[in-house]
Amino acid sequence: MDNIILDNNKLLILDQTKLPNEEVYIEMKCIEDCYNAIKLLEVRGAPAIGIFAGYSLALFHGNDIYKTKEYLDSSRPTAVNLTWATSRIVKAFEEGKDLIEEAKAIHKEDIEMCRNISEYGLSLLKDGDGILTHCNAGELATSKYGTGLGPLILGKEKGYTFQVFTDETRPLLQGARLTSYELEKCGTDVTLICDNMASLVMKKGLINAVLVGCDRVAANGDVANKIGTSGVAILAKHYNIPFYVLGPYSTIDFNTKTGDDIVIEERESDEIKNMFYEKPMALPETKCFNPAFDVTDHELITAIITDKGIVRPPFDVNLKELLK
Ligand code: MRU
Repeated sequence: MDNIILDNNKLLILDQTKLPNEEVYIEMKCIEDCYNAIKLLEVRGAPAIGIFAGYSLALFHGNDIYKTKEYLDSSRPTAVNLTWATSRIVKAFEEGKDLIEEAKAIHKEDIEMCRNISEYGLSLLKDGDGILTHCNAGELATSKYGTGLGPLILGKEKGYTFQVFTDETRPLLQGARLTSYELEKCGTDVTLICDNMASLVMKKGLINAVLVGCDRVAANGDVANKIGTSGVAILAKHYNIPFYVLGPYSTIDFNTKTGDDIVIEERESDEIKNMFYEKPMALPETKCFNPAFDVTDHELITAIITDKGIVRPPFDVNLKELLK
C-alpha cells in the first residue's frame, strides 16, 4: 500500500483521514498543502511524516529553505522524524546535492530500516502469539511493513499466525480506522477493542506481547508515543507481559535527556467532543485536555527494537552502545 508517491515530481498522499471508507489520493501543490496535510493527519505516523517532509521541503523550499524548514517543522512538534528529515534536506542543500534524490534516499532507507526492525521484532515472537497494539504503526505510518506492526506484517508473509488485538485509540481512532484496516488487508487475524478493554484481554491470558511504535526516544529510554500508550505499558507490567517499543534508530534523540524534556503536542477539543459523533458529546463550554502523546517511563519497557538491534535495559547505557 503506497501512502506517499512521487510521480514525475508530483507529490501524492493517500488521505488517511478518509480511511477506511475511501482510498483517496491527494496532490500537494504548495508548501501550505504539505503543512496542512501533516497538521490535519492526512499523512501521519512518525516515519511517514519524516518521508513526506523530506519530499515537501525538496519540492517546495522556495527562496528561503531555512524559513520553509522552520514552518514545516512547526506543523507537529513531538515526533523527531520530522525535523530529522528536514535537517537532512537542508544539509543536502548546503552541500549542493540534488534534493529530490536526498528525499528519495530517506524513503528508500526507511523501507530497509522497517524490514530490519520487523526481522528483529519477529525474532522475539512465537507463532500463534496474542499481540496487543495501540494506535497505528504499520505501513501507513511508515514506508513498508511498519515498526510496531512490522513483525506482524512480515510474519504473515513468512506464514506465521498471530491473534492481534488493536485498541481503537481515542480520540482519533487510528487503531480502529487504520490498524484494523491494514491488518484485515494483509489477512492477519485482528480484533478491535475499546481502549478500556486492554486490561481484560490481558487478564484473560490472550496477550503474549505488546507491540507499539514510537515518536521520540529520550537518551534514558523514556518514549513519547500516542496518548494512552503509557497506560497500556503499566497494565503490561502488572500482568507480566513484555512491552516492546519499535522504531528506527533515528527516533532516538540523544539531545533529549528524559521524557520530561519532550514537547507534547496539544490538539483541538473538537477531536474529543465532536469528531466522529453525529451530535456533540459535551457542552460547548466544557473544557477538554487533548494531548496527542504521552511518555512511557523506561522502567515499563522490556526492549526497544531498532533497525540496528534490540536494546534492553539499562537503556541510558545500551542505547549509546548502538552508536559504536
Ligand atoms: O498522531 P499520529 O497518528 O501521527 O500518531 C502516531 C503514533 O503515535 C504512532 O504510533 C507512532 O507515530 C509510531 S510510528 C510508526
